Amino acid sequence: EKGGYDTFMEKEISEQPHAVADTLLGRTNDAGELVLDELRIDEDELKSIDRITIVACGTAAYAGMVAKYAIEHWTRIPVEVALAHEFRYCDPIVDAKTLVVSISQSGETMDTLMAVKHARELGARTISICNTHGSTIPRESDAVLYTHAGPEIAVASTKAFLAQITACYVLGLYLAQLRGGTYAQDAKAVLSELHGVPAKIEALLGSMDRVREIARFMADTRSVLFLGRQVGFPIAMEGALKLKELAYIHAEGFAAGELKHGPIALIDAGQPVFIVVPGPDTPHGLHGKVVSNIQEIRARGARTLVIAQEGDEAVVPFADEVIRVPHTSPLLQPLLTVVPLQVFALELSTAKGLDVDQPRNLAKSVTVE
Ligand code: F6R
Repeated sequence: EKGGYDTFMEKEISEQPHAVADTLLGRTNDAGELVLDELRIDEDELKSIDRITIVACGTAAYAGMVAKYAIEHWTRIPVEVALAHEFRYCDPIVDAKTLVVSISQSGETMDTLMAVKHARELGARTISICNTHGSTIPRESDAVLYTHAGPEIAVASTKAFLAQITACYVLGLYLAQLRGGTYAQDAKAVLSELHGVPAKIEALLGSMDRVREIARFMADTRSVLFLGRQVGFPIAMEGALKLKELAYIHAEGFAAGELKHGPIALIDAGQPVFIVVPGPDTPHGLHGKVVSNIQEIRARGARTLVIAQEGDEAVVPFADEVIRVPHTSPLLQPLLTVVPLQVFALELSTAKGLDVDQPRNLAKSVTVE
């Protein structure tokens, strides 16, 4: 049932091109527009929403954080991301014009379920992004947008994460389409690019040998830091989470801009740091800012493991290792940049002789508060 792979996680990482492609499948018409019949919320009602709150936990919450950047950019609707267990108890500001989007692979996470129920009590419209048909959270929501990642067995979420990001993009682009005008035009272009991403993930998966090698040499490492910016920031946190749960190594993800506000004090000789570099075409000169960060930490002795787009030569002088990802427009990069970090955690866990599919102390679905 592992399809020739040693672990479910390895198999599921390899299935990611399909997870993305299948989540897009059947949701576009011949004119290249999104058709989401499954969203049984009235179009006018959807057009009238003036705020989105995403509720989720763990990896699903990082998918939500990626989505925030994308949906706000495409729709200009304010998006807030709340950890479901915090949302319930923070007296959230939610009304009938708020769309509450829950994200859950299992559809059974108690914290997320209770957040959805709470949102409904407050009068919000609720959409569930979920991977499991017939599970509880979709049943408790007004509508559901299924991710089509297929069953995820390994405790650590990988292909569901990519499918969750994809489904969030689909939702954001659909809302942009409903807004019409240039919003709709731009959405169409992004959607067309999105259809090309699965092939890029496939190519990327074929070039992970060096990442595996790096991981195997790091079995004794005690701490790894991850830096990212904009959509790369939640990816840094996801990379850190994967390493914690699979390899039991202390790991932390930071927004690269925070470095000088504290975390740079952690950098000393040999400290491994992954840096998720925004593509050179990212607005506001973010690429250059992150390259400067790499330079700064390297000067303090960090071992810099740089995830950068193909053709980005600016990183080379400051990188101990460069891991290449194919080009996409900036907001779609997370679907690629997270892959080496997943493979790294998997390989390091394996190198330490740990059970990759069933890390200690964790359960696949957390049905208690
Ligand atoms: C991390 C991981 C967890 C889940 C979280 C939410 O690899 O798997 O952080 O993402 O427990 O689970 P779901 O998506 O089932 O609600």
